[in-house]
Amino acid sequence: MKLIITGANGFLGQHLSLYMHNNKCDVYPVSRGPKRIPLSEIPYYPLELTDKQAVLDFFAQIQPDVVIHTAAMSKPDECFYDQEACVLHNVTATQYLVEAAKQFSARFIYVSTDFIFGEGGPHSELALPNPLNFYGESKLMAEKLVRSSGLRQNIVRPVFIYGSHWDGMRPSFIQWVRGKLEANQPIKVVTDQHRTPTFVDDICKGIDLLLQRETNEDFHFAGEDILSPYEMAVIVVQVLGLNAALIEPVTADVFPEIVRRAKDSGLKIDKAKAILGYQPHGFAEAVRLSFGLKP
Ligand SMILES: NC(=O)c1ccc[n+]([C@@H]2O[C@H](COP(=O)([O-])OP(=O)(O)OC[C@H]3O[C@@H](n4cnc5c(N)ncnc54)[C@H](OP(=O)(O)O)[C@@H]3O)[C@@H](O)[C@H]2O)c1
Repeated sequence: MKLIITGANGFLGQHLSLYMHNNKCDVYPVSRGPKRIPLSEIPYYPLELTDKQAVLDFFAQIQPDVVIHTAAMSKPDECFYDQEACVLHNVTATQYLVEAAKQFSARFIYVSTDFIFGEGGPHSELALPNPLNFYGESKLMAEKLVRSSGLRQNIVRPVFIYGSHWDGMRPSFIQWVRGKLEANQPIKVVTDQHRTPTFVDDICKGIDLLLQRETNEDFHFAGEDILSPYEMAVIVVQVLGLNAALIEPVTADVFPEIVRRAKDSGLKIDKAKAILGYQPHGFAEAVRLSFGLKP
């Protein structure tokens, strides 16, 4: 199975490329700039997804069976400040990939987000979309493109992804907490937002389970624990034996809000568990694994 993975220099894209390669898949990771995946035997192809001809040419060269589209302009604040760029990278690029995938009848797996929903989470796959910011709107527009493409397709949605980290990758929340506290710097962390954070290994496994089935359904790949960022930080402290006194619990209104974010977001995973046999790690266990500790 030939698998194109977009966003392969990103946090999820790097993990997913390694995971699928280790699972003996024939992976073709693409992203912008030089390769940042730390394994020489994995191939890598620089590809600007907003260049339609480059996308079509690359697909003609590879003739993929599956496309897993993780690339995105993924920071909500940046999407708010530059909405044109957000549409270009999140919607137009998806359109080009869909058109290219159609030429080879490739299956299309689109990685979306819990941000397509509003308040009232955790949300199931049946919840009505109600994005609270432009990033969420752009991801919803891309979902609609993929769903109406006529391709074999799936929308998968993670939440607040975290996991292990290496050079050449942006740190996730748990590395931020560790870095600050090890440098003896106090941090303010929000108590009144709740999420179901996704351990990156779990979404990789979820996508792998999905690939073993022929279905066009959407699936949520998140954790089971409903946690505030403050509660997550406290667990990081407990796992690593850091100084909890450096964490100050605060409410979200302490920070100036550039874009709206739901207080109660997060995703329900009952469907993925029932249909795919998806079973995520608990948060504390996943934090241990992320830092190379025994579960
Ligand atoms: N991180 C989360 O907590 C989270 C939660 C829910 C959903 N998601 C979704 O999960 C996916 C992966 O997230 P992530 O955190 O791994 O994102 P990320 O670390 O920001 O990585 C995204 C990658 O996409 C690449 N990219 C963006 N536009 C591109 C373009 N036009 N052409 C080629 N490559 C392009 C970026 O390249 P550069 O490195 O060169 O910029 C980057 O390497 C995204 O679709 C995001 O919306 C993420």
